[in-house]
Amino acid sequence: MGKFIWLCRIRSLLFVLFFLSVVDSFLSLSSSSLNPPPLCLPEDTSALIQFNNTLFIDESANDLCAYPKTKSWNESTNCCTWEGVTCNKVTGKVISLDLSCSMLAGSLSPNTSLFRLQGLKRLDLSFNNFSGSIPSGFSQLVSLTYLDLSGCSFSGLVPSDISLLSKLISLNLSTNDLKFDRQSFDMLTRNLTKLENLVLELVNMSDFVPTSFMNLPSSLKHLGLRFCNLKGKFPTEIFQFRYLEYVDLSFNSLTGYLPSSNWSSHLKYIDLNDNQFRGSIPASIGNLTKTTFLDLSNNEFQGQLPSSLFSLKQLTDLVLSDNSLEGFLPTHVRGFQDLKVLCLSNNLLTGVIPSWPFTLPSLEKLDLSGNRLSGPINQIQKPNSVQKVDLGYNEIHGEIPSSFFDLVNLTELDLSSNNFKGVINSVMFSKLENLLTLDLSSNSFSGVIKLDVLSKLKKLGELNLSNNTLLSWSSDSGSNTTFQELDTLYFSSCNVRQFPNFLRSAKKLRILDLSNNSIQGSIFKWESEERFELKLREESTLATIQLARN
Ligand SMILES: *[C@@H]1O[C@H](CO)[C@@H](O)[C@H](O)[C@H]1NC(C)=O
Ligand SMILES: *[C@@H]1O[C@H](CO)[C@@H](O)[C@H](O)[C@H]1NC(C)=O
Ligand SMILES: *[C@@H]1O[C@H](CO)[C@@H](O)[C@H](O)[C@H]1NC(C)=O
Ligand SMILES: *[C@@H]1O[C@H](CO)[C@@H](O)[C@H](O)[C@H]1NC(C)=O
Ligand SMILES: *[C@@H]1O[C@H](CO)[C@@H](O)[C@H](O)[C@H]1NC(C)=O
Ligand SMILES: *[C@@H]1O[C@H](CO)[C@@H](O)[C@H](O)[C@H]1NC(C)=O
Ligand SMILES: *[C@@H]1O[C@H](CO)[C@@H](O)[C@H](O)[C@H]1NC(C)=O
Ligand SMILES: *[C@@H]1O[C@H](CO)[C@@H](O)[C@H](O)[C@H]1NC(C)=O
Ligand SMILES: *[C@@H]1O[C@H](CO)[C@@H](O)[C@H](O)[C@H]1NC(C)=O
Ligand SMILES: *[C@@H]1O[C@H](CO)[C@@H](O)[C@H](O)[C@H]1NC(C)=O
Ligand SMILES: *[C@@H]1O[C@H](CO)[C@@H](O)[C@H](O)[C@H]1NC(C)=O
Ligand SMILES: *[C@@H]1O[C@H](CO)[C@@H](O)[C@H](O)[C@H]1NC(C)=O
Repeated sequence: MGKFIWLCRIRSLLFVLFFLSVVDSFLSLSSSSLNPPPLCLPEDTSALIQFNNTLFIDESANDLCAYPKTKSWNESTNCCTWEGVTCNKVTGKVISLDLSCSMLAGSLSPNTSLFRLQGLKRLDLSFNNFSGSIPSGFSQLVSLTYLDLSGCSFSGLVPSDISLLSKLISLNLSTNDLKFDRQSFDMLTRNLTKLENLVLELVNMSDFVPTSFMNLPSSLKHLGLRFCNLKGKFPTEIFQFRYLEYVDLSFNSLTGYLPSSNWSSHLKYIDLNDNQFRGSIPASIGNLTKTTFLDLSNNEFQGQLPSSLFSLKQLTDLVLSDNSLEGFLPTHVRGFQDLKVLCLSNNLLTGVIPSWPFTLPSLEKLDLSGNRLSGPINQIQKPNSVQKVDLGYNEIHGEIPSSFFDLVNLTELDLSSNNFKGVINSVMFSKLENLLTLDLSSNSFSGVIKLDVLSKLKKLGELNLSNNTLLSWSSDSGSNTTFQELDTLYFSSCNVRQFPNFLRSAKKLRILDLSNNSIQGSIFKWESEERFELKLREESTLATIQLARN
């Protein structure tokens, strides 16, 4: 009975939904026939045609995004229907021109008819090929809120009158060969009071004093300053701008500190890679509840790794490599369900490696190398996603957990310079068919590696097993599989006794280091004529023997 009533309700609900959708499509049909596209104003049409005529389509442009929108522009049709053109529905004025990735080439002169399109609110010319400088005259486009000239091959100075576009919300001048002069930028920070997005990647700002960023309006959400030649102290206050969501200062020479409190609560993306920021990472970083990307690598941060970092459950990337951070990794973390990249390499971290990094369900890259981490490592529990594991240069002992040998997507495994031990053999690695590099050097592994078995790892390019004094390889078994990509093989300071004739067919081998072993017997003739380095004795380090194969 109850079920029946439910069914009836569902049916009537479905009927109502159906009725609504019919009404809706009827309404939208009639509204589009009542409101055809507005008619383009004659002055806008002529401005667009003149602009079009000063440019040409560079058929050789073969960027992935290239599509020649202007090719279909037709003088005898309404310009409001042209690709990339949008008009105001009431006045018919052209309000948006989006010619990004349109294979356009030519130059923009200060008298370009583009500047007559005074109703323009959005202008996107990104990824075309305009030689020469950005003309001055943009300030005539008084209504402009969005300007994207990124990737346009512009060169020279950014014209100062861009700083007068007081309604601008988004400005993107990235990836050109531009230089911003300090006065124009100061004017920009004061006049563009509505600015939310400022992206100047690769713009040369070498003579800037970064304090000028302080004058940017507090409405700022997105600040992209990657590769801008910036130096000097970056104002800490920017990280506290109330609406800031995205800040990329990577690859500059900025100094400065992170705020000890009052971070913008909207911050999602922080990239300070390759600068000279100092001081500690404050505990308040744990307040960044929205941050998904955090890269503070290659800076001069020191002090304790704050445990609050590990409460940022929503992170996808946590990169703190190449600083001087001390302390332990927490024994437990909760969350980190989406963490893909965890790089804490080259710091001063100590203590036992906890098990949680090996249980992260989305992990792709784990780099804890170059610390003083100890203890054995745990089995990987959610193995499928992992591609790179680097635990080199630590004090880890124990054996390689067996689950590592099931990581079918693994491309790089580096366990070098630790205290690993245990018998290894080539069959263990046979499932790792995506492996590109394998470095187990400077440990205490023992056993016999059958190179012909290992050679079934078709993509393997670099193999380093040096300095495992109990490790040897076996003689050829007569199999005819060969290393296809092997470029480098280090097997020095091991327990190798015979020359591996099998390697004769490793066609791409460039470096073979067998020094400090006790090899006896003769070396076969090489098949190929390529030159490569062969090192058989320690003393040959000084003058690496160059042998022609053959
Ligand atoms: C615009 O330029 C393209 C090529 O550069 C040309 O094919 C097209 O006919 C032009 N359209 C108008 C309306 O000028
Ligand atoms: C331009 O549009 C007119 C009218 O629709 C049409 O007759 C003509 O063939 C078009 N020209 C081109 C080059 O597509
Ligand atoms: C714009 O200036 C160029 C020289 O910079 C000139 O050749 C061209 O005729 C001018 N065009 C217009 C429409 O004034
Ligand atoms: C831009 O055009 C110039 C020739 O005008 C050409 O040398 C250059 O390769 C082009 N650049 C791109 C990115 O297509
Ligand atoms: C330029 O920056 C704006 C604002 O952040 C962004 O929306 C746009 O996608 C960027 N343009 C390109 C080509 O990436
Ligand atoms: C822009 O800023 C400069 C310097 O701060 C000022 O002199 C000028 O009046 C401002 N212009 C506008 C249009 O706001
Ligand atoms: C940036 O500008 C400065 C000063 O004009 C110049 O010395 C430097 O070479 C420029 N850097 C680049 C990468 O163009
Ligand atoms: C943090 O914000 C609060 C409230 O807005 C303010 O009272 C305090 O002075 C700020 N502290 C710092 C260090 O900026
Ligand atoms: C941020 O975190 C710190 C330390 O975890 C805390 O003392 C502070 O009250 C938090 N709030 C703000 C607004 O900084
Ligand atoms: C390996 O990675 C691919 C995508 O790169 C993914 O589709 C696949 O599920 C992974 N393989 C395994 C066994 O996880
Ligand atoms: C060889 O490995 C041992 C530890 O197993 C290490 O102490 C030594 O420095 C390594 N030698 C070289 C040359 O890397
Ligand atoms: C050598 O390769 C051939 C074909 O590629 C195959 O039929 C044969 O079984 C292989 N021999 C050995 C010993 O693996």
